Amino acid sequence: MNKILPVDKLEIGMEVVAVDKSWLETNILFHRFRVRSFDDIQRLRDNGIKNVTILIKDPIHDKTEKQAPLSVDDDRDIPKLRAMEVLPLPTLREWNALHDKTIAVLSKSFDDIRMGSALDVTPLRQQVIETLEMLVKDPRKNSFLVTLSEIDDESYVHSTNTMILSMGLAAQSGVPKEDIPKWGMAALLHDIGKALVPLEILKKPGRLDPQEWDTMKRHPKFGHSILSKSKDDVVRGICTTVAMEHHERKGGGGYPYGLDLPDLDPVTRSLMVLDIYEALTAGRVYRSPLSPAKTLSYLLEKELHRLDPRAIANLVQMVGIYPVGSFVELMDGRIAMVSAYENPDTNSGAVDLLVLYSAPQKTLAEPLAITLPTIDRTCVRQTFHPRELGLSPADVARYLELTPGDHAH
Ligand SMILES: [Fe+2]
Repeated sequence: MNKILPVDKLEIGMEVVAVDKSWLETNILFHRFRVRSFDDIQRLRDNGIKNVTILIKDPIHDKTEKQAPLSVDDDRDIPKLRAMEVLPLPTLREWNALHDKTIAVLSKSFDDIRMGSALDVTPLRQQVIETLEMLVKDPRKNSFLVTLSEIDDESYVHSTNTMILSMGLAAQSGVPKEDIPKWGMAALLHDIGKALVPLEILKKPGRLDPQEWDTMKRHPKFGHSILSKSKDDVVRGICTTVAMEHHERKGGGGYPYGLDLPDLDPVTRSLMVLDIYEALTAGRVYRSPLSPAKTLSYLLEKELHRLDPRAIANLVQMVGIYPVGSFVELMDGRIAMVSAYENPDTNSGAVDLLVLYSAPQKTLAEPLAITLPTIDRTCVRQTFHPRELGLSPADVARYLELTPGDHAH
């Protein structure tokens, strides 16, 4: 049974299932959660929420107001054990091969530009088409790919990952199928202007000085000048536009021209979000990596005013809060990797997890496969980027291969 309650009457332990504002009007990631602290209640107030709907499990005794904070005894959090299945996942290897090949092709394109040659679009388009074919074949969400690359050359890996996410997002947003490759090409080439930024600036470890930063900020214009010379209509059109616009921000706070959101192409408005999401979740050498859940919270809390909220909403819908390949600490302290969803196209329903640690820093001798009826904030204490747990991309790939990957039971 549900009951509407003013925020001021909320208590710790109550389970909120809805709030009186739409998802886009708040910077709260979850509108369904168990109240765990007064901070949670304050956050609702800060977002202008006056009433919430709470779930009453036992309407006869209506104990909700005295409900204890969530504990490991909560039925929904006791996972059912099931036998470990070891099935190879060929598509993961295929993804890896395609990913590496795309990075290599893009790297050659950058080299060609640096040598003063023209951009050869054909091999890039080939990679985009092959990636789209894989996306169509593979119903799983693809965000786990960002954890897969061992190659640490930021620009190429970043653009390749962004291309995959961009086509996923295009499909999610109802873009006609024939237009989806354009989204992929635009993402793959959005940073091509960096080919004309001197390598000592691109590869400089640590902070750029103001002069170097000025040079770096010219890469959208460099990209425009490279791509607008192409004979290919798509490259000369949308790819040039996106390369030029992708550092603009809502309200005119970006560069190079200080354009506002309505002036920007929809492809750019989505790419701006993916650009940040990929950079934060990929966790490269000199940045602290963030889990998908933390990245989505960051986007909502810190970047919402600079980006297109619809594009963020589409991203959240596409990757989900706990995508396959992400790491969660359950309420009982165990740490597990999310390995499959019952409904892989919506990341919903029962979820398979691979428990790797019985508690922080306590590795299990053998990973243990479990299934939860569902996953949300009521059963996840916190999330981790694999690197925070000392896991390499190869480790994550190995654990993904240990799991069936089709669906939870
Ligand atoms: Fe850029």
